[in-house]
This record gives sequence, structure tokens and C-alpha cells, in this order.
Amino acid sequence: MNKILITGGAGFLGSHLADKLLEKNNEVLAVDNFFTGSKRNIAHLANNPHFEFMRHDVTFPLYIETNQIYNLACPASPVHYQYDPVQTTKTSVHGAINMLGLAKRTRAKILQASTSEVYGDPEVHPQTEEYWGRVNPIGIRSCYDEGKRCAETLFFDYHRQHALDIKVVRIFNTYGPRMHPNDGRVVSNFIVQALKGEAITIYGDGSQTRSFCYVDDLIEAMVRMMNTSQDITGPINIGNPTEHTMLDLAEMVLRMCQSQSKLVYMPLPSDDPKQRKPDISKAQTALDWTPKVSIEDGLKETVSYFKKLLNE
Ligand SMILES: NC(=O)c1ccc[n+]([C@@H]2O[C@H](COP(=O)([O-])OP(=O)(O)OC[C@H]3O[C@@H](n4cnc5c(N)ncnc54)[C@H](O)[C@@H]3O)[C@@H](O)[C@H]2O)c1
Repeated sequence: MNKILITGGAGFLGSHLADKLLEKNNEVLAVDNFFTGSKRNIAHLANNPHFEFMRHDVTFPLYIETNQIYNLACPASPVHYQYDPVQTTKTSVHGAINMLGLAKRTRAKILQASTSEVYGDPEVHPQTEEYWGRVNPIGIRSCYDEGKRCAETLFFDYHRQHALDIKVVRIFNTYGPRMHPNDGRVVSNFIVQALKGEAITIYGDGSQTRSFCYVDDLIEAMVRMMNTSQDITGPINIGNPTEHTMLDLAEMVLRMCQSQSKLVYMPLPSDDPKQRKPDISKAQTALDWTPKVSIEDGLKETVSYFKKLLNE
């Protein structure tokens, strides 16, 4: 039985990952400082004898025994990562150093949840892993983007210098149940606004596109990546390449929520990328993976989660 550590295990992706790994008969230890995660996300696991939770901040070292580490701890949405930008960079950089140190001591495999944000506001479309990105090093998103870039650097240096078995996945926009209702990410924003009958905020003219991956597809890819042979380090893009404009998404959400909310237009935030779409050829080949859940099916699950949450 694998003893698997998930940092950020009480978060949106971390809690779904815990479910999946427990389903596959592993021992799971989740650590989290509850900055954006919640007890609610893992409450259903409290009586599972194979699940353990520890409150811990990854900017401090951790001494446990493990043979796989999924490093997910980091606030992921601009409102949260910009709240305390210094702490955001520390979480990515010190967190990576601490978890890589743990992997070195235990000889555990270690996977980093990196992000499409390492591509910044890209000139290449769709983004392939070879593209080095266009990131502003001193802007308001830099604490997250540069923190994640530095974490990738650390992963590859530990791999070269200490022969660690590393895996780096670059995650593109993912959505689904257990997203934070106030994190300002577009899918949760639109759904919560539509369900409350509040105006739907569109930044810019709504023609900018994003691609959205349903959480179950994403978690499947992450687990497949962890289980690849040692020669596969990544970085590998994981996400759903089907693009939607913000206006299309707003209309879909309004229809599914049977909402009469109006659309209001606001200026685009600084450094907001106009378009982002993963090239997933590498994931298709190396992981034999392709996203399966349609946006309609994924949104249906997500809307029903938020309906329940807002009625509690
Ligand atoms: N969801 C996405 O679309 C997406 C896209 C790209 C990358 N990612 C990455 O995936 C990971 C998980 O994202 P998510 O969407 O589940 O976000 P999330 O905010 O729900 O999860 C992050 C978790 O990390 C915890 N955390 C933050 N700082 C910590 C610290 N110093 N010590 C311990 N725990 C800490 C939070 O409390 C939270 O539970 C993040 O690293 C994020 O950057 C997510």
C-alpha cells in the first residue's frame, strides 16, 4: 500500500485527489493550513481508516514517512494569491524546497501542481511545453506566476542534482464541485452570481477565451502522471483544449441556473491573458489520456454543488 502525502489536501483539487487515491486503496495523509481549503471538503473522509489529516504550513519543514508526494499547496485564484503576495511566493518556493527535501530523505516520487500561468500572457497559441512564456516579473500576478516558475526550477535542479523522481504537470483552468464560492474564478463567479440573481460580471468585452477542464478528468491525468516511469518528468500540460468565450460561458450558466441575471461589463484586470489553451499532445501520448467530460455535464455537477452550498 502506498503512503501518499497531499499538500493542499483540503483544497478543491487536493480533496478530489484524496478521494481518488483512497478509492485505489492507498493510505493518504493530507496537510493543509486552511488558507483557502476547508474542513467541509474532507469531512466525508473523517472516518476513513486510510485517511489522515494534519494542519501544517508547507513553508515549514515536514518530517513524515511517505513514498509519493503530490505538492498542491498554494492559493490558486488571483483574489487569494494577491491577498498576501509575499506568503504566496513563500508557499511556492519554500514549500517546494521543503517537499523536495522530504522527497530526497524518503526517496519518494514527487509531483508538482504547476500552472498554465507559467506561460504568462502567451504569444504562442495553443501553448506547448516548449514555450518559455511571457511573464511580467514585477506585476500583481508575479507572486503566483514567478513562484510557480521557481518551483519548477527547483524540481528540475533536484532531479539533476539529486536524481529525484519528479513529475511536473502544468494545470490549465479546472472547475467542479468544491471550488471556493468567493475565489473570483470565472466558473464559480458566474454560477454563484446566476444562482443569487446578481449581475454577471464580464471583464473586457467577453470575447476572451478560456478552456475549462472538469475536475475528474484533471485528477485522472495527475494520477496517471504520478504512475509514469522515472524517465517521464514533464512538464506536461493537462487541461481541456476546447475553448469558450466568456460570453458563451455566461449564457450556458444562465441557461442551466434558469437565471434572469443581467450581464455587466468591467475593465480587464492588469496582466490578464487574452487567450489560453493547452496543447495536450504530450499528455495524450505519455499518459494515454484525453479529457472526457463535456462542459455541459461538468457545469451541471458544479451548478448542483453550488445550489446545495448556497442553501445550507
Ligand atoms: N484549479 C485550477 O484551475 C488550477 C490551475 C492551475 C494550477 N492549479 C494548482 O493546483 C493546486 C491546487 O489548486 P486548487 O484549485 O485546488 O486551489 P485551492 O485554493 O482550493 O487549494 C490550495 C490548497 O492549498 C492550501 N494552502 C495554501 N497555502 C498553504 C500553505 N502555505 N501550507 C499548506 N497549505 C496551504 C489551501 O488552504 C488550499 O486548501 C495549486 O497549487 C494551484 O496553483 C490549480
